[in-house]
Amino acid sequence: MFGNVIVGQSGGPTAVINASLAGVIKTARDRGAEKVYGMRHGIKGLLDHNYVDLSELADSDMEIDLLKRTPSSYLGSCRFKLPEISDDRETYEKIFKILDELNIKCFFYIGGNDSMDTIKKLSDYALIINSDIKFMGVPKTIDNDLAVTDHTPGYGSAAKFIASTMKEIIRDGLVYDYPTITIVEIMGRNAGWLTAAAALSKGEDCEGVDMLFLPEKVFDIDHFMSRVKEQAESGKSMVIAISEGIRVMDGRYVFELSDHVEFVDAFGHKQLAGSAKFLANKIGAELGIKTRAIELSTLQRCAAHMASRTDITEAYNVGGAAVKAAFDGESGKVVVIKRISDDPYMSITETHDVHQIANVEKKVPLEWITEDDFVTDDLIHYIRPLIQAELSPIMINGLPRHLNCDLR
Ligand code: F6P
Repeated sequence: MFGNVIVGQSGGPTAVINASLAGVIKTARDRGAEKVYGMRHGIKGLLDHNYVDLSELADSDMEIDLLKRTPSSYLGSCRFKLPEISDDRETYEKIFKILDELNIKCFFYIGGNDSMDTIKKLSDYALIINSDIKFMGVPKTIDNDLAVTDHTPGYGSAAKFIASTMKEIIRDGLVYDYPTITIVEIMGRNAGWLTAAAALSKGEDCEGVDMLFLPEKVFDIDHFMSRVKEQAESGKSMVIAISEGIRVMDGRYVFELSDHVEFVDAFGHKQLAGSAKFLANKIGAELGIKTRAIELSTLQRCAAHMASRTDITEAYNVGGAAVKAAFDGESGKVVVIKRISDDPYMSITETHDVHQIANVEKKVPLEWITEDDFVTDDLIHYIRPLIQAELSPIMINGLPRHLNCDLR
């Protein structure tokens, strides 16, 4: 008799985070877990005894298949930072009491670099109290900013959505016989991986974006305005991709230069939104050109209808690999993806110490960004395999069918 396992999802959702959940629950059942519990709203929910028994779901191949194609976090999510162990042992005592009551042997947390902080602290505490519960991190984030892993599940699908949406925006943006400017704001916080995906729009059927601004380089507004002016004077319409995280020389985000409402989450991250609107207004006011600002916002996070099958497969595999590692006795680790070949693309999974991954932001290397703020072919070659192939949604009555969990 093995005992039970528990799994949670944390941070921003993705189109494939539920494929990882499917990988965890199916593999755990196949390997002998008696019950598989899901935390509703991550560790925050667990602290409120808010969990659900997923064992029946794990045993239904049809539901597992639907779960894999369901975007966003089936179990709900949280942005909750556990206290430092030295500051508040009570919280940890409470969590471990709940885990013991549920006879939990392995704990899986699907998330990005902030969520891995939870695995780090819980596995550290387990060592302190000599608990034999295993804690494993399962990687996810559309931002692709997790250290060590070649890339994160969730990124390939968001990149595929961004590149294809940019193609459609470019088609729309170039129709008039007078110059218009469309600025598209893309997520990714302080890393430009997602914005770089806009460069994939260029091909034999599409001229691609005209400018691309990643947060890894300081954003020079005067230089930007003069480039826009110069191009517009030649009568050319433009589509420009910017990261939500671009900053000016003094460190302020571009959206902070305008009136904005400040919201900061538990990890100290500001809500980043409004840079495209600010720049579009500035161009309109100063250059008199028709502009449009598009925030891709949450549309890019959960676009399961444009998901990458490569991404779904890898997301499922990292879930399964986490279970295998935990059942083999590993703890305090994160599953990472290692690219072993580009052509044909092939990857394997490994595990890595969570201490080197939690709270670390991996940015786009500067050598992959050109002098004129574009991206190099190396960066395009890095992204391209991750967006390959499709897995069609199950369509019912003209719309994709999703699996829904009661989160109340
Ligand atoms: O999960 C990462 C991310 O999608 C970032 O790209 C974005 O800045 C952030 O989440 C937004 O988070 P929230 O949903 O908490 O506003």
